[in-house]
Amino acid sequence: MEIKIRPLRFEDSYQINDIRTMRGVFENLPSLYSERPEFIQNFIKTFADSDHAFVAEVFENNYMRILGMAGLHINRSPRIRHSAMIGVMVHPGFQRRGIGKRLIECLIDTADNWVQVKRIELEVISDNTPAINLYKKFGFEQEGIKKKCVFRNGEYKDAIMMARYKF
Ligand SMILES: CC(C)(COP(=O)(O)OP(=O)(O)OC[C@H]1O[C@@H](n2cnc3c(N)ncnc32)[C@H](O)[C@@H]1OP(=O)(O)O)[C@@H](O)C(=O)NCCC(=O)NCCS
Repeated sequence: MEIKIRPLRFEDSYQINDIRTMRGVFENLPSLYSERPEFIQNFIKTFADSDHAFVAEVFENNYMRILGMAGLHINRSPRIRHSAMIGVMVHPGFQRRGIGKRLIECLIDTADNWVQVKRIELEVISDNTPAINLYKKFGFEQEGIKKKCVFRNGEYKDAIMMARYKF
């Protein structure tokens, strides 16, 4: 399976919506099963030069199928514009095949080598071991815990704040 990483396009919004509302994904994102494609369309419309989003896609049965997405969102305020937030997700049917790694590599290459981002931050629900392991692989370290910060399946869960910096 030849996977290509390329910039996100507006017309990807329907496939992105499909993935964001799948079990195995939405529980660990700040999204809901009821989320509509308009949500991601409106999100893309807010993008500026400081937003860098990518998808992983594969050509399958004459169709370009999106398997994952990741974004690097640089702070716009002058004194913190060396920092950025990231997010990543992979289609549940294609997880554990190195796609998350490819997407994070692309974000880190963008940060380190192209847009002068020194510090990358993220938040992850404290029991999301796959994501925590993925981030640790790229040098992200825990900086703090946000207690009971997210409601998931009837329970308030902690989130871990992680960051990687390179000066
Ligand atoms: C987290 C996520 C993006 C990982 O994507 P992926 O394509 O499955 O990850 P990869 O195959 O590239 O794996 C990279 C590393 O992540 C870790 N990892 C991935 N899946 C794992 C699992 N099920 N259990 C433990 N570690 C896991 C491992 O360290 C792995 O490296 P290894 O294969 O050398 O052991 C994916 O599980 C996902 O989309 N989850 C739902 C959405 C989500 O949680 N997003 C992050 C929100 S903060």
